[in-house]
Amino acid sequence: MARAGRPIVVFDSGEGGLTLLKQAWALYPGEDYIYICDTEHFPYGQRPLVQVRTFFLGVLTYALTLDPKAVIIACNTATAAALDAARAVSGDVPVVGVVEPGILAAVRVTHNRRIGVLTTVATHRSGIYQNGLRAAEARAVVWQRPCPLLVVLAENGRVTGPESRAAVAHCVQGLLAEDVDTLILGCTHFPHMQAIFAEVVGDRAHLIDPGLETAKILPHYVVGLQREGLGTVSLLTTGQPERVLRVGRQLWEHIVMRPGQLAWEDGEVVRRR
Ligand code: DGL
Repeated sequence: MARAGRPIVVFDSGEGGLTLLKQAWALYPGEDYIYICDTEHFPYGQRPLVQVRTFFLGVLTYALTLDPKAVIIACNTATAAALDAARAVSGDVPVVGVVEPGILAAVRVTHNRRIGVLTTVATHRSGIYQNGLRAAEARAVVWQRPCPLLVVLAENGRVTGPESRAAVAHCVQGLLAEDVDTLILGCTHFPHMQAIFAEVVGDRAHLIDPGLETAKILPHYVVGLQREGLGTVSLLTTGQPERVLRVGRQLWEHIVMRPGQLAWEDGEVVRRR
């Protein structure tokens, strides 16, 4: 049973997961949130899964010292690499990944059961969406496509403009040609380009944002979420706190956010300031 006053930790490799944080905050504003991103090791999606697991478990060890009510892995790649391992060591702290909520939403809305998934290279390699979709809907036909260029564009704030539009169109055209009616944005950075995706895909496919779906069904995993009041938001990073704060401020102008510096020391995450 969750105790009041304990924070919810939201993790991503970079700034992409701030969209999930924003959605969770909109639904449960009374919670205290601590966003942690491992910018030093970004991008996770280009790394071997075993290395991503080691990094995420290092972050989790630090996160558990904060006595969280839950840990949400907003990163699809870290979910693919480490969700089971994280649950094995988190004790009574629920660890929530973004992949399952995204899968459940996709199988709910698809009519023709032809589902496309855009991911990082590592998530693609893990097969987590392919296997999860088939487990949830045995008749699902799944097409996956890794889109590392979109990760780089989104992390650098290039979420609009002709170059990003062309990159999105390039990624989705093969899937749309296969007549998918549902497209999972299986990387936390892709929802930052939601406007371009909506324009390029139009009404040909439902767009699924696993982060949004996770925020919506969070009460399935975490008891006693505060829908009233105003909690706090802290942004901790192994990279540059000012940079994360700047992106955070673009998403919420009216929320006070406290930045903080984390660092890796001998394989462990420590707080610097
Ligand atoms: N956060 C990662 C994900 O959702 C994408 C960025 C990265 O490659 O680290 O898969």
